Amino acid sequence: MKKSVTQFLLDHAAEKPVSFHMPGHKGSDIYRRYGYDEFLNNFIDCDITEIPGADNLFQTEGVIRETAEKYRRLYDVKKSYLLINGTSGGLIAAILASVPQGKKLVMARNCHKSVFNALTLGGIEPVYAYPSMVGEYGISGPVEAEEIARCLDENPEAQAVILPSPNYYGICSDIKAIADVVHSRGKVLIVDQAHGAHLKFMSGEPKSAEECGADIVVNSTHKTLCSFTQSAVLNYNSDRVEQYILEDKLQAIQSTSPSYLLMASLDINADILEKHGERSFSAWQSNIEDFYAKAAAVEGLKLMEVPGAMDKTKINIDMSCYGIDGNQLEELLMEKGIYSELVTGNILMCMTGIGNTGADFERLLAALKSIAEERAFDKEGSDNSGAAGTEGCDKADNSGAALWMKRRALHEIPKKKQQVHIDESEGLICAASIIPYPPGIPFVCPGEEIGREEIEYIKLLRNRGEKVIGVDENMCVVVGKE
Ligand SMILES: Cc1ncc(COP(=O)(O)O)c(C=O)c1O
Repeated sequence: MKKSVTQFLLDHAAEKPVSFHMPGHKGSDIYRRYGYDEFLNNFIDCDITEIPGADNLFQTEGVIRETAEKYRRLYDVKKSYLLINGTSGGLIAAILASVPQGKKLVMARNCHKSVFNALTLGGIEPVYAYPSMVGEYGISGPVEAEEIARCLDENPEAQAVILPSPNYYGICSDIKAIADVVHSRGKVLIVDQAHGAHLKFMSGEPKSAEECGADIVVNSTHKTLCSFTQSAVLNYNSDRVEQYILEDKLQAIQSTSPSYLLMASLDINADILEKHGERSFSAWQSNIEDFYAKAAAVEGLKLMEVPGAMDKTKINIDMSCYGIDGNQLEELLMEKGIYSELVTGNILMCMTGIGNTGADFERLLAALKSIAEERAFDKEGSDNSGAAGTEGCDKADNSGAALWMKRRALHEIPKKKQQVHIDESEGLICAASIIPYPPGIPFVCPGEEIGREEIEYIKLLRNRGEKVIGVDENMCVVVGKE
């Protein structure tokens, strides 16, 4: 008999795994450390609805307003909104509030799928801004201010700009420079800061989008801080978007039964930031620095660095020197009870969060060292070619990398649709996004032509066992019908 989801979760928790994936709390320890046992012990009894005194998420006057106020103070913005449908809901509402139906939105091509969904919901036309690439790994890098300027100058009727920063790998764009470009042309800047809710509270660079002048910033506090999965915070810091329209879109997009457990976790997260933020963030930062320094001494272990643009709380590990790709490294770490967040080619990304302790970082380092030592020993034993180092390293497997940011012509999104086997989709127009998950960035978008290279790459991902939304179990995709 197959396990239930409950049993799976209980078994997993019993393993006492080390989490380098979302959510950022990494388990109940941080709640207990700072004295929130009473909430944990009364968990189910806190799952209520809008009884008298419990306030209303969509017209805050009482307790929920108090929590939103805490965030307003913490991020130093005009107004903060609690979200219970993740950053996804906040991004859709922000876009719908900023771009009227039928108008254009300048968006980074590596935006999350929720941004693409907003296009469909709002009848909005995209103008793609292409990020630069990190050549060695074939992943998207920063979006340059010049690229945003080009898009806006070629499309002066565009109403707003949206991009992710940091992106999934922790690479940040120069939001200050982009804000200057956007505002000098009278447009609205929305930053998807799903992966950077912590930046405002860290010392040094990169700075948060709130500090760099974005109009609306959406933060997945669940990814790196300690609120529960699906909770998030939208920060509004502008006169360029009407507040009442934003509020109308937020209530249209989100559940009418907002979870009080999620909202309580947002409240506790804010409380921890206010009362223990300094201590938590300085410990987290020093664990990170220590980890990078010690990892540098492990032969054959490479950590991705993008000077000046990297949020180092995301640790991108490359051990291809030992012939280990990202998937294999993920498996090897899992055997040691360590779970990571994302694999792309040779990179394995470990997402650290406020809840990770020094001991977690030590376990990760020790595991990587022992993998390196075993491989070096195997290599010496097998070919006697001396210590395993960077010589003879496999080249990064970047097959498909260039395809991600390929500039494809954008056709009208098909009104009539059909499902066809992927092998028969060559030359047809995509009618439902094809989205490898993670990272959740559409690979082929509605309106783009599906080519042979795309087909082969999607098949490769599926053969590797990766999830690709938009390709069903029979390998069918949705395309336009003549
Ligand atoms: C870049 C980016 N933006 C937005 C989201 C959506 O965030 P949420 O899961 O809070 O809805 C994700 C999710 O992984 C993401 O990677």
